[in-house]
Amino acid sequence: MGHIISVGMGKGGVGKTTTCSTLADILSEAGHKVLGIDFDPQGNFTQMVTRQSLFDFEDRTIFEAMKSRDPRPYIHRVRENFDLIPADDYLAYLSKYLYTEYDGHPYRLLAETIGLLKDEYDFIFIDLPPNLGDQTLNGLAASDFTIAVFQPEPFCFDGLLRYEETVELIQENINPNLKFLGVITSMMDSVAAIDEAIYQKAKNHYNDLLFDTVIKRRARIKEYSLIGLKKETAKDRITLAPYISLVKELMDRVQKEAVR
Ligand SMILES: Nc1ncnc2c1ncn2[C@@H]1O[C@H](COP(=O)(O)OP(=O)(O)OP(=O)(O)O)[C@@H](O)[C@H]1O
Ligand SMILES: [Mg+2]
Repeated sequence: MGHIISVGMGKGGVGKTTTCSTLADILSEAGHKVLGIDFDPQGNFTQMVTRQSLFDFEDRTIFEAMKSRDPRPYIHRVRENFDLIPADDYLAYLSKYLYTEYDGHPYRLLAETIGLLKDEYDFIFIDLPPNLGDQTLNGLAASDFTIAVFQPEPFCFDGLLRYEETVELIQENINPNLKFLGVITSMMDSVAAIDEAIYQKAKNHYNDLLFDTVIKRRARIKEYSLIGLKKETAKDRITLAPYISLVKELMDRVQKEAVR
C-alpha cells in the first residue's frame, strides 16, 4: 500500500513545487514507483517534470479525472517508475464544480478519485497551490501525510501556523488518518541574518517537526525549473545533496509513522 504525501503552504513561491518534484524524482530514480498529482491550476509541477506546455495536457488533467471519478485514463508516463496526473488553469473551476454539480462532500472528491491508485504506487505526491481553499482541503483529505514548505521570510511563519490549523481542521472533520509529517525549510539565504532569525523562531516553535535538512537558495536549483533536474556533473550532485538527505529523513519519518 502506497503513501500519499501532499506538499503545501498557503504562501506562494516558497519552493513547494520544486521540493515536491525533486523528492518525487529522486524516489522514482531510486526504484520506487511514484505518481505525482499536480493539484495547482498554475500547472508548475506538470511543467517542471514533463518539460512540456500545459496546452499539451488540455482535457487530460486531474480535473477531468475527478469529474469522471476515474484517474487511470489521465495518467501520463514521465519515465519508468514516474507517472504524473497533470493540471492546468481549468482546475481553478474546481470550486464551482464542487458546489454546483458534485453531490458528495466537497472536500472528499480527490480522495474518492485517487483512492484506487494507492495500491499501484509506493508514493503519491500531491503538489498543492498557495492558498488554503478547496484544492488544499481536498488534497489534505486525500493524504496520509502532509509536509509544509517554509521559507524563512517575514510572513511565512504566520503562513505555517495557518497551514497547521488547516491540517487540524481536516484531521478533526474529514481525515483522522492524516499526519503532519513536518516542515521543510527551503530557499534559505545563508548570509541574511533575518533568515537565520526567522528559521530559529520556527525551530523553537516546531522542534522535531522541522526537518533537519535545510534547502538553501541556489541559482542552479532555479535553473532546474526550466531545464529539468540535472544529476550528471559534480556541481549538480553537490546541489542535490540536501534533497538526498531530505529523502532519507522523509523515508524515516514515513516508516516511523506508518508503524505507529
Ligand atoms: N532552493 C532554491 N533556490 C533558488 N531558487 C529556488 C529554490 N527553490 C525554488 N526556487 C525557485 O523559486 C521559484 C518558486 O519556487 P516553486 O515554484 O517551487 O515555489 P511554490 O511554493 O511551488 O510556488 P507557488 O506558490 O507559486 O506554487 C521558482 O522559480 C523556483 O525555481
Ligand atoms: Mg507551486
